[in-house]
Order: sequence, then structure tokens, then C-alpha cells
Amino acid sequence: MKLRKFVDPLPIPPVLKPSRRSENYTYYEVSMKESKQAIHRDMPETTIWGYEGMYPGPTIEVVQGEKVYVKWINDLPVHHLFPIDHTVHGAEKEIPNVRTVVHLHGGRTEPDSDGYPDAWFSKGFDEFGSFFQKRVYEYDNQQSSRALWYHDHAIGLTRLNIYAGLAGLYLIRDWHEGSLNLPSGKYEVPLLLQDRSFKEDGSLAYPEHPKDNVSGISPSIIPSFFGDSIVVNGKVWPYLEVEPRKYRFRLLNAANARFFHLTLDSGQLFYQIGTDSGFLEHSIGVKSLLLAPAERLDVIIDFSNLIGKMITLKNDAPTHFPIGDPVDPDTTGIIMQFQVTKPLSNIDTSVIPSFMGPINWLAEHTARNDRYLQLSEEKDQYGRPLFLLDQKKWDDPITENPHVGSTEIWNFINTDEDDHPIHIHLVQFQLLDRRSFDVNHFKQTKQIKYTSRPFPPHPGERGWKDTIRCPPGQITRVIIPFFPYTGQYVWHCHMLEHEDYEMMRPYRVLPPS
Ligand code: C2O
Ligand code: CU
Repeated sequence: MKLRKFVDPLPIPPVLKPSRRSENYTYYEVSMKESKQAIHRDMPETTIWGYEGMYPGPTIEVVQGEKVYVKWINDLPVHHLFPIDHTVHGAEKEIPNVRTVVHLHGGRTEPDSDGYPDAWFSKGFDEFGSFFQKRVYEYDNQQSSRALWYHDHAIGLTRLNIYAGLAGLYLIRDWHEGSLNLPSGKYEVPLLLQDRSFKEDGSLAYPEHPKDNVSGISPSIIPSFFGDSIVVNGKVWPYLEVEPRKYRFRLLNAANARFFHLTLDSGQLFYQIGTDSGFLEHSIGVKSLLLAPAERLDVIIDFSNLIGKMITLKNDAPTHFPIGDPVDPDTTGIIMQFQVTKPLSNIDTSVIPSFMGPINWLAEHTARNDRYLQLSEEKDQYGRPLFLLDQKKWDDPITENPHVGSTEIWNFINTDEDDHPIHIHLVQFQLLDRRSFDVNHFKQTKQIKYTSRPFPPHPGERGWKDTIRCPPGQITRVIIPFFPYTGQYVWHCHMLEHEDYEMMRPYRVLPPS
């Protein structure tokens, strides 16, 4: 379906109002509901699933240290919007087709509130998975200011539930952020980027099976989803009217599998100030931004000297990054447009800070353990591609079991051809380096033969992270402090089709040794 660009204004998701606020805590109730939403001016309304019936969900804003309770309520219909492949782990026929569980991505959350994939629940909490513990989740928000996001994490269904619309932003504020004099209020704009495909009637299209359906199974999971339209905050190719001044954008790649490599056609710089998990030490001016699924970026764009200009935000990341099809310059190559058409309402006194504060860099010698974890592509029993972590499946016994309070180095050995964004629940980590190695030699002998010197992190990755790109043919090393909770969590690739089909593993934080 061919849709006109830049005809709908960019929506800003509303900030969620609590059901109750007291001195000691804030309580929210959030219902997941099916509803109809206009995603493009020229298209019939689209049936979506949204938190509070909104796609994307309302933004939850908290301050550091605020104790927050959320009752996540499944009020969805009994039939799923999309066909379900029952050969996928955890999605067997006997299990309810509509099941949900909410994960706060990047949150340092106790295990019972973390949205474990088997902690799913159905409408009215009628049925629930084996790990279900509680109806009201608890978040203590001890982390410093950053952009988290909440999204569905139900076992075997995450790709379809998020595709239906179940995702939203969660911003933590703190005093330090307030002291930096960043563009704020209406000059701080979230941009939740996704790709989608639509049918003529406006409904969301998700393939029933891969194009070359080797398995003959239908419905059958696809290796990764790529849509033909770009949706920002729930609108296809929107525009945003801006004043000639600085704006702060909170970018989130909430796509199933698509990477975004962003540039401005005005040739101007983005000033990156933060990563997934808070501020960089120094702001950096960059011509382009690379954003894998689930990564966030905190950037400032200065429109000051651009009165009357139309500036297009473009994308040129291929599918199956970095090896797949190039973008179509007319569709997936375009994200949205900034129109510098609003008069300046008052003098812009906000700044692009050069220094945001020191980061406590972790020394390698503090790590108690080194783990070597292969990311690989295999074939399943039906001949479909299957992606694995450390050659193991979801149901295999737990092998990653760090002690609470300890620091470890995890080496992700990517022997596949795709870049896999790896996310670890509970923790934040620092990227040490990446290094090329001989992939065939490793496949044959399980021995590492490095073929390059280590590459230092890109300037935009020199901060705390919770999702890290693991490029093909490289070993990506991260250093991870495990705290403050013990219990069972997960780590996985954040390409949702991979995560749903075995590229996810449980891990357990053990009591101190
Ligand atoms: Cu954003 Cu385990 O997920
Ligand atoms: Cu992957």
C-alpha cells in the first residue's frame, strides 16, 4: 500500500496519569485493549492492541527513587490479531493464544516483576504461566535518569504482541538531568521508530509464513520481519513542526528486526548526549546514528538557523543488518520530516552540555568470570533457520549463573551473518571492545583465532548499555556487574523473531558465594 508522506503530524504519546499517588508510592493501572486508530490520513483505521488502548502506549514518567506499582491488566479479545505458529517453544496449542506479560526494558527490577516470559497471564488473570507470581508489579526506580521502555514479553508471542502495538516509553527523571538545562517540556520529543506493513483495509499485515516456505508449515514463524512503511509514534511518515531552536529527541528502535541508520538530509549534526542507560560523559556531534532493535539514543538537534527549512530524517540501514536488502529510498529510506515553520516562542536558553558527568568505568581485572557465548544460525527439524545462544535452546538447563555482587565479562562470539542485538535483563553493562576472528576455524575447532586487533567502542557506545550490537564475524566483549537482586532472568537477541524462536536463554543470579 502506497501512502503519502508527511501528511500527518507526529503524535506525542500522553503521559500516563496514576490511579493513586501517595507520599510513599504511585499506583498505576494499565489495561491492554484492542482498539482502532488512525495510522495514516488516507488509510482506514487500523485495529491495534495497546496499553490503555493506545499505540504506542502512554509514556510513564517517574522520578528517581519513586516507588511505583503497576497493575498490568489483560483486557484483550480471546482471538489473536495474527496467526500463531504452535511449533514455537511455549506457544503450543494447549496454551491460551492471547497471553501477555510486561517487561520494563532496561529496568533494574526484582525478578517477580520483571516480566519473565513464562509469567504470562490471560484475560482476567484466568490462566497464567508457570512463573506467574503477582498481579501488581513493583518498580523501585533506583536508577538515574534514562529512557526505558515497557513492552510485551510473552513466551512464543512477543513478536506478534509488540507488532500489534504493545510498547511504550518509561522515562526516569532525576535532579542531575534537571540541572543540565537541556531542551525540555514541548522541546523534548520521544521518537519511537518501527516498521509496519498494512493491507488495503488498513489492517496490520504480518506474514503467515516465510516466502520460501521450506517447512510447509503454516502459520510458520519467519526469520525476521521487515515492513514496507515506517511508523513513528504510531503514524506513518509523520511530520513535526518545530521552532528554530534546539530540541531533545529520545529515540527508541521498537521495530521487530529492522536496524535504523539515521541521517538528516540537511547534512547537519546530531548531538548525542546519552545511550540506553543514561548520559555519555561528553556530548558528541555525529553525522549519523545507528540504532539496533531495543537500543535508545538521547540526542539534541539544533534547528536555530534553519527557518523555513524542511528537513528529512532518513534511514539507509539494510535489512538483516548489515548484509540484507538495501532500503527503498522512497519508503523504508524515509523516517519523518522536521518542518522549521513555527515562530520562536521565546529565546532558547537551553544548552548542549559538553560534559554531562563522569562514568565509573569498570576495570577488566575486577571481573571474576569470563563467559564465551556463541551466537549461531542452525536449522530446525523442519529445515527453517534457527538462531541459538551458546548452542542451547530455551528449555535447556541454566548455564549462566553469576553470583550477586560479582562482575563478569561476557564474550559474544557471532558466527552468523546477521548483527544480533543482545539484551540482558536486570543489568547494565559497558562495552569493552570487539574483535574479528576466524569464523570457520571456530566452527570446526571451537578455538578462537583472532584476525584483528580489538576495535574500541564507537564514541556513541561509550556509556552504560543494556542492549549491544554483536556484529557478524566479531567477538563483542561486555563487562557486567550483577546486582542487586538474585533470581531468574533472561538474556536474548532483541530481534523479536529470534527471541521468540530459541534465541533466548534463562539465567540465574545466585546468592553471594
Ligand atoms: Cu526489551 Cu527481554 O526485552
Ligand atoms: Cu538475533
